[in-house]
Amino acid sequence: MRLTFTVNGRQREADDVWEGESLLYVLRERLGLPGSKNACEQGECGSCTVYLDGVPACACLVAAGQVSGREVGTVEGLANGDKLDAVQEAFVDAGAVQCGFCTPGLLVAADDLINRNSEPSDAEIRESLAGNLCRCTGYEKIMDAVRLAADRRSSSDNTRPDKADA
Ligand code: FES
Ligand code: FES
Repeated sequence: MRLTFTVNGRQREADDVWEGESLLYVLRERLGLPGSKNACEQGECGSCTVYLDGVPACACLVAAGQVSGREVGTVEGLANGDKLDAVQEAFVDAGAVQCGFCTPGLLVAADDLINRNSEPSDAEIRESLAGNLCRCTGYEKIMDAVRLAADRRSSSDNTRPDKADA
């Protein structure tokens, strides 16, 4: 089949796609977007997390035939050109990246959380990232990074009432 769908705001096409191959394979091997990682390929680790119509999903569990005409957002779409997104910067600044294999999925999951909830509690952060496994960091730095990103987003958006009145 010819697969046509939107990736990071751009219409993309791929030819000779088998309907059953994974969205993760299409992104990495056909479209040259290697940010989403292939660690378990069975929905267990979250390293392949992307947005599918605005909702985080494991790209390894989504069949290519299911994404026809839909919108996919990958970790490559978070930055604005050369400027890292606040979540990406926070992961760097908090030292939340070691081997980096889990990082793309965590970035998408954290971005989704902060978009929905600008001041998440620690319990909410843990719950939102529960599907993303890290084998290196012990999670404390990741928690620090998400708190930092939420703080920075709130400050720059100036959307919190206490900031608006300041
Ligand atoms: S590679 Fe998709 S969940 Fe692990
Ligand atoms: S930084 Fe290595 S798996 Fe998370």
